[in-house]
Amino acid sequence: MKGVAVLGSTGSIGRNALQVAADHPDRFRILALAAGRNWRLLAEQARRFVPRYCVLSDPSGIGELRRELDSLPVEVLAGPEGWDAIVGDPDVETVLLAVVGAAGLPAAVAALRSGKRLAIANKECLVMAGEIFSAAAEEQGAEILPVDSEHSAIFQAIRAGRPAEVRRVILTASGGPFRRMPRTAIENVTPEEALRHPIWSMGEKITIDSATMMNKALEILEAKWLFGLRPDQIEVAVHPQSIVHSMVEFHDGAVVAQMGVPDMKIPIQFALSYPDRLPRSDPGFRFRDFAELTFEEPDTGKFPALRLGHAAAEAGGTMGAVLNAANEVAVQGFLDRRIRFPRIAAIVEEVMATHDPRPVRSLEDVTEADRWARTEAQRLV
Ligand SMILES: NC(=O)c1ccc[n+]([C@@H]2O[C@H](COP(=O)([O-])OP(=O)(O)OC[C@H]3O[C@@H](n4cnc5c(N)ncnc54)[C@H](OP(=O)(O)O)[C@@H]3O)[C@@H](O)[C@H]2O)c1
Repeated sequence: MKGVAVLGSTGSIGRNALQVAADHPDRFRILALAAGRNWRLLAEQARRFVPRYCVLSDPSGIGELRRELDSLPVEVLAGPEGWDAIVGDPDVETVLLAVVGAAGLPAAVAALRSGKRLAIANKECLVMAGEIFSAAAEEQGAEILPVDSEHSAIFQAIRAGRPAEVRRVILTASGGPFRRMPRTAIENVTPEEALRHPIWSMGEKITIDSATMMNKALEILEAKWLFGLRPDQIEVAVHPQSIVHSMVEFHDGAVVAQMGVPDMKIPIQFALSYPDRLPRSDPGFRFRDFAELTFEEPDTGKFPALRLGHAAAEAGGTMGAVLNAANEVAVQGFLDRRIRFPRIAAIVEEVMATHDPRPVRSLEDVTEADRWARTEAQRLV
């Protein structure tokens, strides 16, 4: 039985993770659930899994949550105090970071520093503070297990050789809803259109990131930190069917790809159960349903965000945090209908152009760059 904490349990990844835990009650015990605002769903989840801790970041819902869970042996805590209790509990072996954005950063670093396995869905935190994550994991011998389907694929494929034998990795991208749309038409797309992803059903922020392809920019940085790669070793291929989740090319020319139906429960379960593979009862992969797998060169003219991912990976230091923060602000500006779709990547580029990256030595370096970039991006929005 593995003790698991799910931070962001009310979101798309969090709900899938709880389904995985429910499918394997003999393997996972949910010891903690944490969410932002949705106290109703959190209460429902707590009644089902009866965790030791239930943590809500929004203080206005705490009273309701306490009343709902009054009769259960669940400690209801608010924000940072609650997260500290979770990462400080010795029975919590794995922390699944499934909150969106920068909010989970301190808890993730604290989990690694206390030697826990970090199953990480949240790419923003890795992009911001990759150095700190790698150093904390190394110091404590803690493991970072990727949940993102592409990085889970690389994690699996890369084990077919030695790290020094990797020539490059190829991250696959669905291309999002505007892959075939002419550049001029993209100018006027609405948030509703951008939120209609052709393959994956995900939270709002990542769905917009998929439409701009900023998601892949973040994933370039994520791959750099998770696998210790140089930016020129990370390539992107558009693969609209989303069956090949990513590939690793070794220096003898062999390419190892990981494939499967697009279902986030598969990489989530693997991150929780690794090194074991637990059975799933779904019908599995039927090759007849996927007779055609295609790959295309991404159009960086139409999707300039991709270039920014490589640029930030080359620049290093605080540039990752700046890209991420400017993007979060710009995405919100688009969802609030204050800017047009192409301005998202343009604003990120403008903020990056005025930033002089500094080395990341502490969380303060990251939060300072994050704050600066948010102010700049807000001004441009
Ligand atoms: N969805 C996917 O298929 C997918 C795939 C790969 C990677 N990811 C990454 O996984 C992360 C989560 O994505 P998602 O799609 O699951 O997002 P989502 O559906 O929007 O869920 C976000 C979760 O974060 C919680 N949250 C937000 N702010 C918080 C705060 N200040 N304190 C505590 N919890 C907070 C939300 O709680 P409330 O709802 O209660 O406010 C919710 O549980 C993102 O970083 C995303 O890039 C997602």
